[in-house]
Amino acid sequence: MITGHVFIGTSLDGFIARRDDDITWLTDYPTLGEDHGFADHMARVDGVIMGRGTYNVIKNMRPWYYSKPVVVLSGSLRHTDIPTQISDKVEILDVQPDAAMRILEDRGWKAVYVDGGTVIQSFLRAGLIEDIVISRIPVLIGEGIPLFGPLNGDLILEHEETRSFPSGMVQSRYRVKR
Ligand SMILES: NC(=O)c1ccc[n+]([C@@H]2O[C@H](COP(=O)([O-])OP(=O)(O)OC[C@H]3O[C@@H](n4cnc5c(N)ncnc54)[C@H](OP(=O)(O)O)[C@@H]3O)[C@@H](O)[C@H]2O)c1
Repeated sequence: MITGHVFIGTSLDGFIARRDDDITWLTDYPTLGEDHGFADHMARVDGVIMGRGTYNVIKNMRPWYYSKPVVVLSGSLRHTDIPTQISDKVEILDVQPDAAMRILEDRGWKAVYVDGGTVIQSFLRAGLIEDIVISRIPVLIGEGIPLFGPLNGDLILEHEETRSFPSGMVQSRYRVKR
């Protein structure tokens, strides 16, 4: 059964970006060369599903950031909107989360990195997330795009591990209980 996995950085007050998509408070945070496990996380997944909002922020990164295929969920983007340099690495799907996971499972994918606030929330509501790794950095940004949002009911998470780093980052791993 294909599973979704979240690996995300937040402010201490629970935001993944400012309202204007700024994430420099996260990307410029001095992490002292620490290994927070991102490479291990990428090695475990077959590819990435992200929302159009996240894609819009990272689409101009060169060299391209991802070593694995990227699927963008969007009802407004078309494949012709993808820059040619990355058009063999990025695919647009205009389907619901469960349909996206079925399509990828049929291709042999087993584990998917799910990214983007609204998309993560919709995958959580659909019961498609297996575990969540949250790296909190000690900054309060007051308002922004939240990681979590409305649910159909409470979700119980099992805490598996929390690590703290000399930089001040605190990383917790949770498994979503079924
Ligand atoms: N802190 C971090 O580690 C981190 C990680 C990832 C992203 N971010 C930041 O988060 C921001 C983007 O997050 P976001 O919540 O605004 O957007 P998002 O989840 O990346 O994208 C949401 C968009 O995806 C499309 N979509 C298609 N199917 C969907 C579905 N089932 N559920 C939800 N969305 C679906 C919709 O666009 P259409 O209108 O095209 O259909 C929707 O507006 C950016 O600023 C990014 O930099 C931060």
